[in-house]
Amino acid sequence: MITYKENERVFQLDTPNTTYVIAVVDDENFVGHVYYGPRLKDSDVFYLMRTEEPPFVPSKNNRERCSFYDCFPFEYPTGGVGDYRESCIGIRTAAGHVGSMLSYVSHEILNGKPELKGLPATFGTEEDCMTLKLVCEDKYVGMQVELLYTVFQDVDVITRSVRVTNVGQESFYLTKVYSACIDMDNKDFDMVSLHGSWARERHIQRKTLGYGIQNVSSFRGESSHQDHPFLALVDKNTTQENGEIYAMNFVYSGNFRAQAEVTQFDFVRMTMGIHPENFCWKLECGESFQAPEVVMVYTDKGFDAMTSTFHKLYKRHLIRGEYKNKKRPILINNWEATYFKFDTEKLLSIAKEASKLGIEMLVMDDGWFGKRHSDNCALGDWTVNEEKIQGGLKYLVDEVNKLGMKFGIWFEPEMISPDSDLYRAHPDWAIAIPGRPGTESRQQFVLDLSRQEVVDCIYEQVATILRSANITYVKWDMNRQLTDIGSYGLPADRQGELYHRYVLAVYQMQDRLTKEFPYLLLENCSGGGARFDPGMLYFSPQIWCSDDTDAIERLEIQEGTAFIYPLSTMGAHVSDCPNHAVGRSTPFETRGIVALAGTFGYELDVTKISQEDRDKIPEQVAMYHKYNDLVREGDYYRIASYAQNHKYDCWQVVSADQKQSLVTFVQVLCKVNYKSRCILLKGLDADKRYKVVFENDDNVTDRVYSGDVLMKAGLLVPAPWGDFQARLISLTEVE
Ligand code: GLA
Repeated sequence: MITYKENERVFQLDTPNTTYVIAVVDDENFVGHVYYGPRLKDSDVFYLMRTEEPPFVPSKNNRERCSFYDCFPFEYPTGGVGDYRESCIGIRTAAGHVGSMLSYVSHEILNGKPELKGLPATFGTEEDCMTLKLVCEDKYVGMQVELLYTVFQDVDVITRSVRVTNVGQESFYLTKVYSACIDMDNKDFDMVSLHGSWARERHIQRKTLGYGIQNVSSFRGESSHQDHPFLALVDKNTTQENGEIYAMNFVYSGNFRAQAEVTQFDFVRMTMGIHPENFCWKLECGESFQAPEVVMVYTDKGFDAMTSTFHKLYKRHLIRGEYKNKKRPILINNWEATYFKFDTEKLLSIAKEASKLGIEMLVMDDGWFGKRHSDNCALGDWTVNEEKIQGGLKYLVDEVNKLGMKFGIWFEPEMISPDSDLYRAHPDWAIAIPGRPGTESRQQFVLDLSRQEVVDCIYEQVATILRSANITYVKWDMNRQLTDIGSYGLPADRQGELYHRYVLAVYQMQDRLTKEFPYLLLENCSGGGARFDPGMLYFSPQIWCSDDTDAIERLEIQEGTAFIYPLSTMGAHVSDCPNHAVGRSTPFETRGIVALAGTFGYELDVTKISQEDRDKIPEQVAMYHKYNDLVREGDYYRIASYAQNHKYDCWQVVSADQKQSLVTFVQVLCKVNYKSRCILLKGLDADKRYKVVFENDDNVTDRVYSGDVLMKAGLLVPAPWGDFQARLISLTEVE
């Protein structure tokens, strides 16, 4: 619900449990941020802007205009004329000047949500959401800025984005454009972010927010393994179940900066947007720039509520396509099974064994194309290597289909190997600083996707393969980050557009792909989970979570990922032991139970593993079929975190009707003289009675407890014997 009070010039944006208030202030129409928090009955909170305190507003005290600029809570702050905090927008005029200030011009309130041209974004019908479009301008620059706010009726989310248009007589440069800002009082916040590395993505980090600027960012050309386009400011006392949280997540897959700045006045400015490093976008007269969307979540009910809000939003209003609400086929991927050493015979031997065990799809990973015998060549040459794929791709796919299995394939479309036919023909198609040797990474360069002919050529190569056989799944990989930011195709004053044009082209390609092959199950990937973000989720309902498939390492990675993203999006596989990333051996059963929390599949040579392990696959397949609807569609709760307690991990899913629930408990190292663990369950109906079954522990007899008891007194999980043991516990309502 969005309302405007004309007399007070106040906008009130309401979601079911939150309110956001904006006001237009003083004669110069400054746009101020008044309030964001629990839902208010009325918006009589104008006083919160403190315009009755010194330095007052410029019409009353122009001699202190600079002080006003430097402390006023701006909705969308500019720089260069007196606000010394981080600005949201930077411009450089044709004359080389940089100052700007925005004032309100007009507004529109719409039902529904406009699309953001060329960009992924959340969506909703006219019943689902309302949008406020605030039009502001700087008449000296000739710049119009539209601030877009959408409120959803079914989730406590406000999304924001910004569109900048040159309405003047001369071109100017946009040197920075963030998508969202909240100026508010510092409530003694902690800052929560997701940090990582290759094979160690999205570990939750919480630290005290101090004075000055603190940020997380990427200018690696993708959202990255290292930092994540997510930031939350939380009350010191916030826990899973209680406390205030202001969270932002960026629907974008390129460079970003998420920042909190605590000022001299104990105010906080929280911002998120495209990283300004090496960003410079030329706007000719009449041209616009659309900045990507930020999702904002506020709750006073702790991390469980924040997580649940993000999950609901993404399941209902971001993820699309055939598999949005569907069970995904259980796949077996040959990467960790064979690496580059495979041929038709090998793949068919894996498929034959896998099909007998109930696995439903074979995915052929890296190494099937060009002269690709190792990772040092052939990216860009997307034609089938018939020395390896004897009989051709169609033959292989048909044979796999005859076994009753689907077929999937791996591509890394954004890359070019120096040793490839494509590079020999078009050396200027790689991103490079002309005249300077490029920095290789995994012995490859990145394609200059700002050039439409490059996009078209690669798209056609990929599509030709997909048209040639019955392929129903694609793993779209991206295995290096961007360097040497230069394009042979862009003029000097547009080189600063390359990073963003690159991301737009990736979106364009995935858009074309999902439109031409609407039945395709697309799984994004980037050296594991370096591009696991809402931008990619708009195109693919699942993303490969990490190249670390070890069940214990995955606990923290999956906890951090599920902090924001639904379990249905997390690519998770059972792999062989000792684990290829960390050398650890864990029980096959535990690997299965941990992977069941994601999309579920296998990544091993099923013809080589022990008979004992192989025998467990049909049981795991049965568990997947029994529980995947619940895991995918249910509400997720974090019960215990191994990352915090260093002993055990525990999470739970509950069906919407609260009739069914599944609890996963993983003990990491076994210690002597511990009794059973008492875990407090969540999300159950206190008045219902549940039959509790330990799926994989015959020593525990089935018992019936009330939801009330399970949530308040808890459930005892007998201490498993041995390291890395997992328990799968199901709860079903009994009459
Ligand atoms: C990346 C992916 C892996 C695999 C390899 C192939 O590292 O994350 O799963 O596909 O590339 O080169």
